[in-house]
Amino acid sequence: MVLKPFVDALPVPRVLKPKDKNRDRTYYEVEMREFFHKFHRDLPPTKVWGYEGQIPGPTFEVDQFEKVHVLWKNKLPDKHILPVDRTLHGCGEHDPEVRTVVHLHGANVEPESDGYPDAWFTRDFEKCGPRFFRKVYKYDNFQEPTTLWYHDHAIGITRLNVYAGLAGLYIIRNEHERLLNLPSGVYEIPLVIQDKSFNPDGSLFYPSTVDVQNPPPDFPDVSVTPGFTGNTIVVNGKAWPYLEVERRKYRFRILNASNQRFYRLSLDSGQQFIQIGSDGGLMQRPVKLDEIIIAPSERVDVVVDFSGQKTGCKINLVNTARTPFDFGEPPDPLTTGLIMQFRVIERTSEDTSTVPEFLTKIKRYNEDDAYRMRDITLDVTNDMYNRLLFLLNNRDYYGGITEEPGVDEVEIWRFVNPGLAFHPMHVHQVQFQVLDRIPFDVNEYVATGRIRYTGETEDPPANERGWKDTVQCAPGHVTRIIAKFGPFTGRYVYHCHILEHEDHDMMRPFDVVAKLDPCNRKKCDCRGK
Ligand code: C2O
Ligand code: CU
Ligand code: CU
Repeated sequence: MVLKPFVDALPVPRVLKPKDKNRDRTYYEVEMREFFHKFHRDLPPTKVWGYEGQIPGPTFEVDQFEKVHVLWKNKLPDKHILPVDRTLHGCGEHDPEVRTVVHLHGANVEPESDGYPDAWFTRDFEKCGPRFFRKVYKYDNFQEPTTLWYHDHAIGITRLNVYAGLAGLYIIRNEHERLLNLPSGVYEIPLVIQDKSFNPDGSLFYPSTVDVQNPPPDFPDVSVTPGFTGNTIVVNGKAWPYLEVERRKYRFRILNASNQRFYRLSLDSGQQFIQIGSDGGLMQRPVKLDEIIIAPSERVDVVVDFSGQKTGCKINLVNTARTPFDFGEPPDPLTTGLIMQFRVIERTSEDTSTVPEFLTKIKRYNEDDAYRMRDITLDVTNDMYNRLLFLLNNRDYYGGITEEPGVDEVEIWRFVNPGLAFHPMHVHQVQFQVLDRIPFDVNEYVATGRIRYTGETEDPPANERGWKDTVQCAPGHVTRIIAKFGPFTGRYVYHCHILEHEDHDMMRPFDVVAKLDPCNRKKCDCRGK
């Protein structure tokens, strides 16, 4: 069935109300439920899973430094609505089919509240995973005001739980940002972009098989794929919605919550985006862009000025990114090449909002501050069923701890990508900075394991010079990031945010460790240059 675009109005997710609030903390309860959701006027209701029965989940609005406690309650049935691959880690016959654990993406929180993949729980906490810590999660919000998002992170089924609908926004604000007088209130709108596919009866389609060469006789009936892409673009839970916009400035907080799909966004009116924020906070200065490439889990905070447009004018937000990015199929200009439509109407009041030339001070890390440098290779191989298997440093998720940054120490991580595809690499606990991308000799690397740079160091573009928690790692390039770990010690994960890669098996644990013996921790001189 081909759905007609631009027939449903864009919904805006509701703001979540706390259960209780006092001087010491704000307390929320959030239930994960199964329910039916209308994705499009002409589509029958779809069985989904969502926080508080909503797609996307309700939005948290919190203040910087506000102490937020959340009881995440699993009220889901025992049976998954999507096909579970029993050959993946954590998905064996003795593991419950439906497991959840909530991660606040981009937040710096204690490990016990980070949503570790093995800290899952089933309905009413009947069963808990091998690393379950606590029921009520604590978020201290001592970071820059920004757009974070919460989503499920259960081991081996993250791709299914997020696709089923378990994702929502979490916005941190502060006084400094309020005083900037950016467009706000009804003129500040989040756009959560996802791609889905539907069966004719309205149910969610998610592939359960994959083609491999010479499959062994025990090839599973239900198998993970190397990456899902849907044929329908959904924004805030509606397929190709429209939004009436007044002739004035708007602020859009854009999140790519898709499993695999990257988007190259542009406006068919030829207008520019003014990017004011990245994953972890405001940019130092606004950046004007004709197009923006947004990878899974990245956020871009933009202002779009419709004041120069005529009333009645229709402007499409379009996508030109290939999938897999950046070598696969180009999008169909009539379907996956469309995101949503803006319909310009008259202003109801004067636009007094501004986009200041200077937004916030971003202190760049100095490369010389780095205590050490680590190499993380992004590897592709085959598993025992001849399926593509994605690894980090050729180890899988249960392959032991190899990264142990010291608390309060700065490190440089080099993501080495000898493959064909981009991988959006995400590190928990930190907001990092992108240092650069450097092309290297892939053949020599594959033959000898040596990294020899072959070209110019590419500085990050202006809109990547803010705080980031996810970085697009280009094929044939070493992507260098710099981060300061801490203040918490303990176990976190880093992974590719293409959810099918994360589940199989492009995710690794790491420990932030106390500096017990500072004399024995030698600063490493190697900066990777
Ligand atoms: Cu949004 Cu560990 O991920
Ligand atoms: Cu995260
Ligand atoms: Cu990947």
